[in-house]
Amino acid sequence: MSRTFYVTTPIYYVNDVPHIGHAYTTVAADALARYKRIMGHRVFFLTGTDEHGQKVEKAANMAGETPLELADRVVKRFQALWEKLNISYTDFIRTTQERHKKGVSRFFETVMAKDDIYLGEYEDWYCTPCETFWTETQLIDFKCPDCNRPTEKLKEESYFFRMSKYQEALLAHIEANPDFIQPKSRRNEILSFVKEGLRDLSVSRTTFEWGIPVPGNSNHVIYVWFDALANYITALGYPENSDNLKDFWPADVHLIGKDILRFHTVYWPTFLLSAGLPLPKKVFAHGWWTVEGQKMSKSLQNVVEPNMLIDRYGVDAVRYFLLREVPFGLDGDFSHAALVHRINSDLANDLGNLLNRSTAMINKYFAGIVQQPGELADIDKTYRGKTEEMLNLVEACMEDLAFSKALQTIWEVISAGNKYVDETAPWTLAKDPAQKERLGTVMYCVLESQRIVYNLLAAFMPDTAKKGLGYLGYEGEPAEDQLKWGCLSPGTKITKAEPLFPRIEEKTDM
Ligand code: MSP
Repeated sequence: MSRTFYVTTPIYYVNDVPHIGHAYTTVAADALARYKRIMGHRVFFLTGTDEHGQKVEKAANMAGETPLELADRVVKRFQALWEKLNISYTDFIRTTQERHKKGVSRFFETVMAKDDIYLGEYEDWYCTPCETFWTETQLIDFKCPDCNRPTEKLKEESYFFRMSKYQEALLAHIEANPDFIQPKSRRNEILSFVKEGLRDLSVSRTTFEWGIPVPGNSNHVIYVWFDALANYITALGYPENSDNLKDFWPADVHLIGKDILRFHTVYWPTFLLSAGLPLPKKVFAHGWWTVEGQKMSKSLQNVVEPNMLIDRYGVDAVRYFLLREVPFGLDGDFSHAALVHRINSDLANDLGNLLNRSTAMINKYFAGIVQQPGELADIDKTYRGKTEEMLNLVEACMEDLAFSKALQTIWEVISAGNKYVDETAPWTLAKDPAQKERLGTVMYCVLESQRIVYNLLAAFMPDTAKKGLGYLGYEGEPAEDQLKWGCLSPGTKITKAEPLFPRIEEKTDM
C-alpha cells in the first residue's frame, strides 16, 4: 500500500486579491506535494478560500456587491493564479460550499455535545481586519497589537468554547511532540503563550450575518476562525467517515504564515481535542516578505502582484526565487534586482549552461547518441557519488521543509557538473581518436547526472524539468525509480537544448 501525505495551505480571504505572500505558501506546498508524489506517496494537497466573516462582508458592502458575489469574483483570481503558477492541488475548498457548511455545523454540534460550548456575554476590544478580540491589556495605545489598527469595544451575547479546559492537554501534546510546531522559535513562542493560561474563546457573533448560523440559534453566526479551520477536515468529507478522512487525517503538515500561528496551534488543536479527533502532525509557520526593504501594503502601493512577475520572468523563475532566496521560516525581502540576479547566475549560468554545453557536445561528437560508458575514472566516480548523495540530502531537507537548502544542494551538483566538464575537457578528448570511449563515458556521466537532477527539480520547477528531461530523451513522468544512476540507456537520442533561461539585463526599472 502506498504511503499517504496530506499538505494544506491556509485558505485565503477573498476581500483581497492574491499577492506574493499567498503565492509563497502555495508554491511551497506545491513543491512539497510534487516531491512526495515523485517519491511514490499518494498525496492530498488542499488549498481554497475563506469567504465568511465581517471582513468579507464589509469589503462586499464597499464594493456594492453581496458577499457571495465578491467571493465568486475573487475566487476566480486565485484559481487563475494557481493555474498560472502550476499549482497541482487535489482539491480547492470554498467555505461557502454546502459540504463545508454542513461539516462546520456538525463540528460545532459535536463540541457543544461535549459541553464545551456555553452561552455567555462578551465585552472586549475587536480588531476587524484581524477578526480577533483583544483584552485591554493586550492593546498597544488602544490599537491592535498585531496590525496596529484601531480596535472597537464590543459587547455581545456570545457562545464560548471552553478552551481553558484543554490547556494542560495541549501543553502536554506540544511537549511530547517536538516537531508539532516548527520552526523551533515559533514553538517556544506558543509554549509560553499557553503557559500564561488559556481563556475561553468566543466562537460566535451577533453583530453581522455573513457566516454559518450556530446550530439551534440563528441569531448567531459561527466565528470565522472556527469555520475556516474546519476546512482541513470538511474537504476530506467530515462529518462522513469518508475514505479520504480515514486515509489522510491527521494532516502531515499545515503550511501557514507566522501571523496565523496561534489559530493553528492553539485554537485548532483544542477544537480537535474536544471533538475527539487526532491533531495535525505538524504546523510550520514561514516568515513574511517585505518588498524592497519595506512592509508590503496597499497604502504603500508596493504589493507585489504575482501575475506581473510571471509574465515578466516566467513561472519557474518565480517559483525558484521564492523557494531559494529565503530559508523557509525566516523573513525575507523581495526585490527585482535579487530576482534578476538569481535568474542570471543560478538559472542561466549554472543550470542552463550545463544543459546547453553538454547537449551541444554530444551532438557534435556522437550525433546526439548516448554511448555505452566504459569503466568510471576517479573523477567520474566522485561526480556520480555527489549526484547520488544529493538524493539523501534533499530528502532530509524536504523532511525539514528546508526548501532553500534542498535547492542549494541540487545546485551543488549542477556546479559540480560544470566543473566536471571543465576538468575532463571533452573538446581535448575529441581531438584524439584513441580517447573516443573515454569521451563517451564523460558525456554519459554529465548527461546522467543531469537526468537525475531534473527528475528531482520537477518538484520545484515542473515546466523546466519537463523541458530538460525532454532534451535528455525522457518523456515520462518524474519518478523515484528514475533517480537511480544508470537509467539513461546507451542509444538514447539527446537533443541540443535551447537556452532554458535567457539572461536578463541586470538593470531594473521597477
Ligand atoms: N483566511 C485566513 C487563513 C485561514 S486558514 C484556516 C487568512 N487569510 S489571508 O488571506 O489573510 O492570509 C493568508 C496567508 O498569507 C497567511 O499565511 C499569511 O501569512 C500570508 N501572507 C500575507 N502577507 C504575507 C507576506 N507579506 N509575506 C508572506 N506571507 C504573507 O489569514
